[in-house]
Amino acid sequence: MQEIFNRRSIRKFTDQPVEPEKIDKLLRAAMQAPSAVNQQPWEFIVVQDKERLEKLSQTSPYAKLIAGSPLTFVLVANKHDIKVPGALGWEEDMGAAAQNILLEAVHLGLGGVWLGVATTEIVPKNITAFFDLPDYILPFAMISIGYPDGQENKFVDRYKEEKVHYEKW
Ligand SMILES: Cc1cc2nc3c(=O)[nH]c(=O)nc-3n(C[C@H](O)[C@H](O)[C@H](O)COP(=O)(O)O)c2cc1C
Repeated sequence: MQEIFNRRSIRKFTDQPVEPEKIDKLLRAAMQAPSAVNQQPWEFIVVQDKERLEKLSQTSPYAKLIAGSPLTFVLVANKHDIKVPGALGWEEDMGAAAQNILLEAVHLGLGGVWLGVATTEIVPKNITAFFDLPDYILPFAMISIGYPDGQENKFVDRYKEEKVHYEKW
């Protein structure tokens, strides 16, 4: 699947808006992801308003590029959907959904970047405050998407033979 090999983090976008049909496809791709006990804990906040994007870009020190994006998804998990005892594993479900969005974006001629949220303490708090989220909604990641401006999805070889172990580690 060529999209896997060509995908790169794209951080600069043209002003061209992402068509609603493509947004729909990206969301459908996300929701096709596998999840533990098929719990599908994901929900998606779609942000396209320029002013909102500018403010959203201030929720993470590493996500300033959101301000220059035409579209950013905020991926959140709904605790009420998490069926695995101890509420473990939801991050894995969310990661699969995030990767599906990024790969579908390449397929649609778009570019995107995964912006970490759950990897820090302050960013989930900032996002919860920004969207006034209830306590059962867990911020996981943001993904900015758009038409690449001066960057492209192109293959970089990352294969490392020493990372592969057959039968035993
Ligand atoms: C969990 C996670 C968090 C990330 N957070 C950020 C981020 O906050 N800002 C950013 O510009 N890129 C972020 N990235 C993108 C990585 O920097 C990027 O995937 C990595 O450098 C490899 O480059 P590539 O995506 O072009 O292959 C994140 C990626 C992952 C998987």
